[in-house]
Amino acid sequence: MSSHSIADAPEFLPDPDGSRDAHAYLAELRARAPIARSQMGVVFALAYRHIDLITRDVTRQIETETKLMQGITSGPIFDFISASMLFSNGDIHMRRRAPVSRTFAFKLMDAMRPKAAALAAELVQERIGRGPIDFVNEIAAQLPARIIADILGIPRADLPVFMRWIADTAEALGFIDLEKREKIESSLVAFNAYVSGLLADRRASPRQDFLSDYVQATASQGELSEVEIRTQIVGLILAGSDTTRGSLCMTLAHLLRHQDQWRAFCADPDGRKRGVVDEGLRFDPVISGIPRIAVKEFDIDGYRIPPGTPVAISVLSALRDPEAYADPDRFDIFRTDHPKWHPIFGAGAHRCVGEALARAEMEETLATIARLAPNATLVGEFPRLLPGAIRQIDRMQVEF
Ligand code: HEM
Repeated sequence: MSSHSIADAPEFLPDPDGSRDAHAYLAELRARAPIARSQMGVVFALAYRHIDLITRDVTRQIETETKLMQGITSGPIFDFISASMLFSNGDIHMRRRAPVSRTFAFKLMDAMRPKAAALAAELVQERIGRGPIDFVNEIAAQLPARIIADILGIPRADLPVFMRWIADTAEALGFIDLEKREKIESSLVAFNAYVSGLLADRRASPRQDFLSDYVQATASQGELSEVEIRTQIVGLILAGSDTTRGSLCMTLAHLLRHQDQWRAFCADPDGRKRGVVDEGLRFDPVISGIPRIAVKEFDIDGYRIPPGTPVAISVLSALRDPEAYADPDRFDIFRTDHPKWHPIFGAGAHRCVGEALARAEMEETLATIARLAPNATLVGEFPRLLPGAIRQIDRMQVEF
């Protein structure tokens, strides 16, 4: 039975410059109460046991609310969010997701492993002995962009502009810096037109590839608009970019900080890559919270949550919850208490469709670095993930 209102919960204070230790701050809040509340009225559910709020029928996915809150009520960003699978619910979500989940299959993604390993080898090899490199842009951003470009059959000559569109528009998924709105929108318009061109090409002359299968799956579905068909492809590209990039960086950074574990990894990269990635994704996750809206009144550990309340399931906090992980503040690639379904990829109807691809890219890149550059070192300050729903990596320099 509820005995508290949200107002009784501790306040979740903003961290505008990202200088606070997010894990220590959340541990402090978690010790005081199971939830915290922001000044904007968002409730943060802090414990691992709260992850099921993502799937329970007491919440729904947010739709355009966060864009409306920012005053974005029309235009390319608004249209992108309105037509996406990620920010939709119920039947509409199912119709948008089905052709993707049918064709963007585990087999296709797992088959990208040799390509990811070869690409990582090429990128690393030419940088060995070259002094400090910008790991974020020269390696970590390249992998997801070039692999998805390969899956979509994008010619190599188009890669630079394709990568620029990704860099310009990735922010559309999260909180928008309104000063950048114009730039994001003009790139999004060009990006949309390019993807429409790819789809038209496969309709005119189908090949043995993912996009041709996708086009066919949407045709048999028969209920999606052209904008919806295109938006799922642009969404796939953007959802896999900053997430994989930041995860790759932080996993490598923590490995290099723990030299005993780095050496153990270098001794058996293939045997240990799965454990390395599981732990990297847990220890410093790129997703801080999974946002939902309460659709009916319910209770979180004695706190009454009224309908309409925005609720963020704090993955950042849950992944360090001592009720779920032994000694949670210890980075440990040998950990045996990872759950079967890693919470970093969400849960239920919206669970990440790119998990197998993200894992393939991360595992193969890290294993390749361990094999080719066992003497890799971090240069300069330890990298940080900045505050935000998708935490962006600031910078990271590595010497191979
Ligand atoms: C380490 C990398 C990644 C992480 C941590 C991650 C995490 C997530 C999470 C938490 C969700 C669910 C969000 C919610 O329920 O509100 C999600 C959804 C999604 N992800 Fe990922 N993701 C990653 C990589 C990828 C990749 C590589 C792709 C595709 C190339 C991808 C495509 C998607 C799509 C399309 C959705 C929307 C699914 C839906 O709404 O039904 N993600 N991801």
